[in-house]
Amino acid sequence: MSGYKVLISEQQIQKRIAELGAEISQKLKSSSDKPLVVIGVLKGSFIFLADLVRKISTPLEIDFVEASSYGAGTTSSGEVKLTRDIKIPIAGRDVILVEDIVDTGHTISFLTQHLAAHKPRSISVASLLFKPARQIKEVKIDFLGFTIDDYFVIGYGLDLNNKFREIKEVVIYEPSK
Ligand code: IMP
Repeated sequence: MSGYKVLISEQQIQKRIAELGAEISQKLKSSSDKPLVVIGVLKGSFIFLADLVRKISTPLEIDFVEASSYGAGTTSSGEVKLTRDIKIPIAGRDVILVEDIVDTGHTISFLTQHLAAHKPRSISVASLLFKPARQIKEVKIDFLGFTIDDYFVIGYGLDLNNKFREIKEVVIYEPSK
């Protein structure tokens, strides 16, 4: 049997998201004719994004991109492919790219470059988690939830082969021995 160990509780996550929402609202004030664009990276960010946007008090629109960097299992292939692009125009607008976790940095680095080609006014990165031990690409995370040690984590949107996203906390995945 595989086990779970809670790394970040539901309460800790919600407290931090409220802080991040307030910070974003203050730093990226938008007007209703040029709302902020919040772009979630599917699928892992969907729960974080849902909670985060409800703590942001400035007008915004939501879109999603999907990128694949991992095959089955827990190691990065290093190669990132865009499998879903944005559908709303971002030229001249402030954009926040929302990720569940920055691990090697390949995905965020690829996606920020891709979005920059659409000429937004600014691009910021919000990530719930950051695992510095495995970083390969230098990325700037403007709004970070938590820095974690080198564990494979699941829950709160994060998966292992598409499972466990619905767990309410961020938990350490411990495969059976
Ligand atoms: P990066 O491109 O290596 O930074 O990886 C980013 C993506 O890898 C994330 O969006 C996740 O989908 C996945 N990933 C990295 N570490 C973990 C983890 O500990 N648990 C679940 N998914 C992870």
